[in-house]
Amino acid sequence: MKKAWVQSPFLKACRLEKAPYTPVWLMRQAGRYMKEYRAIRDRVPFLALCKNPDLVTEVTVNAQEKIGADAAIIFSDILLIVEPLGLKLNYLKGDGPSISAVKTAGDVEALSEADPKKSLSFVYRAIRQTRGALKAGIPLIGFAGAPFTLASYMIEGGSSDSFVKTRKFMRTDGAVWKILMEKITAATILHLEAQIEAGVQAVQLFDSWVGCLSVEEYKKYALPFSKKVIKGLKNQVPVIHFGTNTGHFLEEFACAGSEVVGVDHRIELDDAWKRIGHKKAIQGNLDPRALLKNIKTIKKHVRKILDSVKERPGHIFNLGHGVLPETPVENVIALVEIVHEYKIE
Ligand code: CP3
Repeated sequence: MKKAWVQSPFLKACRLEKAPYTPVWLMRQAGRYMKEYRAIRDRVPFLALCKNPDLVTEVTVNAQEKIGADAAIIFSDILLIVEPLGLKLNYLKGDGPSISAVKTAGDVEALSEADPKKSLSFVYRAIRQTRGALKAGIPLIGFAGAPFTLASYMIEGGSSDSFVKTRKFMRTDGAVWKILMEKITAATILHLEAQIEAGVQAVQLFDSWVGCLSVEEYKKYALPFSKKVIKGLKNQVPVIHFGTNTGHFLEEFACAGSEVVGVDHRIELDDAWKRIGHKKAIQGNLDPRALLKNIKTIKKHVRKILDSVKERPGHIFNLGHGVLPETPVENVIALVEIVHEYKIE
């Protein structure tokens, strides 16, 4: 029996097929802007929530249904993979993530050979449960961090604005950098494969901070490993490759081999699509700050993006980055309706 999600607008767009309307989902569609999420977080710490398949199912399905998104993304985090690699991970109230940092060649050597299938089994259990709870026509997206973005968190020990330590590490000892990136790459392939086996219909690779690199640095220190991850999945499901601030190396970014390229709001969507070529689908790219405005203004911004696409098949509507915590939920619901109702005038 064919699965109902195969003909969903989201998967049609991934395959560059014409869809009845532009599919839309949002990064961080389940998050602090939603009161149901905040109510759960008032009693459960973030990491404990990620490790509880019942709660993950509830948060994931509720977000998709509440806003009417065309896909659900499994509630989890890109940083969970550092635990099976042997590092300590904490989320501190107000301060974001904290990781026991990788500082030396010895620290890289000491990283464990990750076995996510065992250590992250709660993610795959959550995927099986969520797949069972979602409507059959709604695809479920799995995800992982791309090797560069993960390495940056591991070296900085948490979030960073400048990535000074990461760039120094990468340039000082190319051989150690390569070992680190290979270890992350291997763990990431296993993690994504296990998600596919558990039942996701697509995966997104988040290279959120790779835009801090120059073109040359990107090609040398990051791209080969992202390519290896995508190739390692052997075309089992469509891959969405997302990054922010990638305008200065978009052609190279698109070379990593994904079916869909995710772009942020700092670039015009039609220009980005020309540059990556129309043989790939594209995802994006409303500025998340637009959702803080009134509905009329949101409509204007959305129409501008959709007008530029001219109903070319292969566009998945999304934000340029995640939903901001201060976003009114009514605006998110309105956004999904505006995208669905759009017709060229
Ligand atoms: O709805 C969804 O998008 C699925 C869930 C999801 C989360 N994180 C939940 C989360 C996804 C896909 C991610 C990916 C992620 N995590 C990325 C890539 C996307 C991006 O934002 O660039 C990154 C860089 C992380 C790392 C991370 N996780 C940071 C830096 C933080 C703290 C800062 C912040 O934004 O809150 C987190 C915590 C986190 N991950 C929250 C959520 C909903 C907030 C936790 C809370 O306070 O409840």
